[in-house]
Amino acid sequence: MKIAVILGSHRREGKNKEIEDMLIGLNLEHELDFIRMADTHIFGCTTCYECAKTNKCVLDDDFEAIYKKLIAADMIFIITPVYAIIPSRLTALFERLTSLLFASGLLNTENNPLLGKKVAVFSYCSSQICDEKDIKYIFQKFVMTGYSFDAVNYRYINDCPNANEKYNYNICEYIKNVALAL
Ligand SMILES: Cc1cc2nc3c(=O)[nH]c(=O)nc-3n(C[C@H](O)[C@H](O)[C@H](O)COP(=O)(O)O)c2cc1C
Repeated sequence: MKIAVILGSHRREGKNKEIEDMLIGLNLEHELDFIRMADTHIFGCTTCYECAKTNKCVLDDDFEAIYKKLIAADMIFIITPVYAIIPSRLTALFERLTSLLFASGLLNTENNPLLGKKVAVFSYCSSQICDEKDIKYIFQKFVMTGYSFDAVNYRYINDCPNANEKYNYNICEYIKNVALAL
């Protein structure tokens, strides 16, 4: 199976590098395809709705390549630091997915190419594992029909309400445990 691993940080050192190295070091039987937002040029949606005519976004950046990677993946890991809110490049990715899937009539339908992907979501800051629920609310509309904005009603790979207690505030340990259980 192929796992698209989105690293939301805008820098290539720091915890995301530690997480990347840890995942590679696990030698999983699954192929890892890293999408490093630090190396990514991505604009926010401009609401031009050209995609409604062509099913393609007219903005010239890395979105199309990321979209193809997500479609090709069996599983998606979203691993992101807290940047006050969600880092802006990850937000831009969510905007662009929303517009493209909505305008091309795929969102909330059986024809959505992301429908049913297995997804894990992780959030962290410098001192602890953070609550990933908000990202789960946002992302579930891309992978399911009948989504809710009030409750996480998609069956995500990971759910651990007491993650800090269980993994001693260490995001690497949390991700490692989930990855080894795949
Ligand atoms: C713009 C910005 C805003 C941030 N806001 C918060 C915050 O509100 N709360 C928090 O705990 N950490 C915050 N952080 C700290 C990051 O979550 C932390 O440094 C994290 O380790 C960065 O991920 P990285 O090491 O993978 O780059 C912020 C960092 C940046 C750059």
